[in-house]
Amino acid sequence: MALLNILVYPDSRLRTVAKPVEAVDHSVATLVDDMAQTMYSAPGIGLAATQVNVPKRVIVMDLSQNRDELIVFINPIIETLEGEIETEEGCLSVPGIVAPVSRSERITVSALNREGQSFRLDASELLSVCIQHEVDHLNGKVFVDYLSRLKQGRIRKQLLKEVRENEQPSPKGRATAY
Ligand code: NI
Repeated sequence: MALLNILVYPDSRLRTVAKPVEAVDHSVATLVDDMAQTMYSAPGIGLAATQVNVPKRVIVMDLSQNRDELIVFINPIIETLEGEIETEEGCLSVPGIVAPVSRSERITVSALNREGQSFRLDASELLSVCIQHEVDHLNGKVFVDYLSRLKQGRIRKQLLKEVRENEQPSPKGRATAY
């Protein structure tokens, strides 16, 4: 397994629209394992392949306390959306920043797992929010896009400055980032 480099906003590669996985083969399993290791190490609760500069529709997620319940979504499709929920979101690609975002409270998602088997999942609350956040990544979208222009500008400036000064990204908010 290998730790992958996580792209930081406003890196334009985060805008790439990921392509469906055609066959869940050994290379995809390796990608999943590397992404899981990268997510746990960050630490984060979710990671999309777009964030590690791989333009494939692959997501890993673990919302459990013990960090031992990995969920893998390959080619996820959100089939139904219901209700509304506002959550303080964070993102491994936007280190140190949290902001409230409104999303659907309940969704149904279908996808393939690491073995290439299809499954369907009813998700609510944080799981639902996290899936929507990661599917956004696969579509080249970042949670910052939901914020006001003013806030977007401030975040862009702050993160560009940190990269320029070669500072370590602030760990604040990372424990629940995705
Ligand atoms: Ni994210």
